[in-house]
Amino acid sequence: MSDQRIAIYPGSFDPLTLGHDDIVRRSLRLVDRVLVAIAGTATQMKDSTFSVDERVQVTQEVYADEPRVEVVPFEGLLVDFARQRGARLIVRGLRAVSDFEYEFQMALMNRSLWPEIEVIFMAPASSYTFLSSSLVREVAHLGGDVSAFVPAPVLRELVRVYGPAASGA
Ligand code: PNS
Repeated sequence: MSDQRIAIYPGSFDPLTLGHDDIVRRSLRLVDRVLVAIAGTATQMKDSTFSVDERVQVTQEVYADEPRVEVVPFEGLLVDFARQRGARLIVRGLRAVSDFEYEFQMALMNRSLWPEIEVIFMAPASSYTFLSSSLVREVAHLGGDVSAFVPAPVLRELVRVYGPAASGA
């Protein structure tokens, strides 16, 4: 295994928001490489907007100029995938106390499944604490402008699905 410190940042990312991006970039200050791991069909929510392939493609586009970020889909248990990829650190963003209970449960379950894993919670920039993929989807669906909340390639895909109003046009 290489000496590189690799963090895995798992999630649904349906779609990636600027809040997620903020966590990726903060993580890059702590580790050599960040693996953005997009949960596959087994974890996929029924009301997802983008397929896993679409999420992977657009997220790869977001990090095309950042060689330290790799974007991959995964199936099955997160800890199994992390172990395969040599990542011993899971990163999750915590926006508010309301996120904490679910995140804490997952962290402890993941650690009981693989005791060598560590989990860190990172706070996003305060301007993103209200942001979530589901709210972005809802606002775009209802004709609102989401251009301030997502990276450009994601906005392009939201416009494709929901129409030009998503970009404020
Ligand atoms: O962005 P999300 O939907 O909050 O991410 C949840 C995710 C994908 C991190 C979680 O559902 C997960 O890790 N799924 C993979 C299956 C798994 O390992 N489940 C046990 C977690 S304790």
